[in-house]
Amino acid sequence: MGVRVKVPATSANMGSGYDSIGIALDLYNVITLEESDHIDITDLNGQKIPTNDTNLIYQCAKKVYDICGKSLSGLKITEDCAIPQTRGLGSSSACTVAGILGANALLGDPLSQENMIDLAASIEGHPDNSTPAILGGFCVALLEYGKVWSVRVPMNGTVDFITFIPDFELSTEKARAALPKQVAHHDAVFNLARAALLAGSLVTGKLENVGVAVGDCLHQPYRFGLIPDGAEVVHAAKCMGALGAFISGAGPSIIAVVDSADKTYLSRAQMYCQQHFPHWKPIRLTCDEVGATVERFE
Ligand code: HSE
Repeated sequence: MGVRVKVPATSANMGSGYDSIGIALDLYNVITLEESDHIDITDLNGQKIPTNDTNLIYQCAKKVYDICGKSLSGLKITEDCAIPQTRGLGSSSACTVAGILGANALLGDPLSQENMIDLAASIEGHPDNSTPAILGGFCVALLEYGKVWSVRVPMNGTVDFITFIPDFELSTEKARAALPKQVAHHDAVFNLARAALLAGSLVTGKLENVGVAVGDCLHQPYRFGLIPDGAEVVHAAKCMGALGAFISGAGPSIIAVVDSADKTYLSRAQMYCQQHFPHWKPIRLTCDEVGATVERFE
């Protein structure tokens, strides 16, 4: 028996909601897991991945077996990953979730969805990625003493997420190391007002608030220095008519939130990037409303 787990990409922060807001996007990693007497890991697209017990999917699956008191002699894992790695689109979160949900299904579902949400956030460290990866939609999530407190809201196709993906990587570790240890009180207030406004505005569909609500001074100003042309792409994305734009997760991708009625935004963005930012490729993504799915096969 094997299981196939499909996990969406995620974009954390959405500007003001640093470490607390995230959205699932319709770009997927599809991972199959089958019990085996040895470790056998392959990538269908020729991407460079760890093929031994350091593989993140394997490690997360093993953790579930350990928690459930089951021994694991090996796994056959096949990866078909569309989420680009190290681009701020939740690829490691997707692998963490695939390992946890896959192992749970192989074991006959001993863990509840809540258990898996808590475990994914504890392993991943970023509930703003792992929670929408499991639940789909727009999520607000925080991790406290090993438990995730979250809300999930559907987006109902009101906006598109035009995602500008550069041809270079930025590790989350490096992007977090760039942040200051302390921030000024008025910077904290600046963000918390906007994060609350963003959540409320997306829930109620008050899209005219999005531009102000994604404003941030806690992380992006420190990260733009690590993203060549990042600030310029955000500026251009807004000038082309986006409701708002921000660094996706820890970067380096940039996301422009665009009214879904604006059908020509993507082609305008593609033309603009070809001329001015040839290292960046815009693609159109929408909110994934389903979250991670698991399918069993014989
Ligand atoms: N909220 C995290 C960060 C997301 O911005 O560092 C990391 O994927």
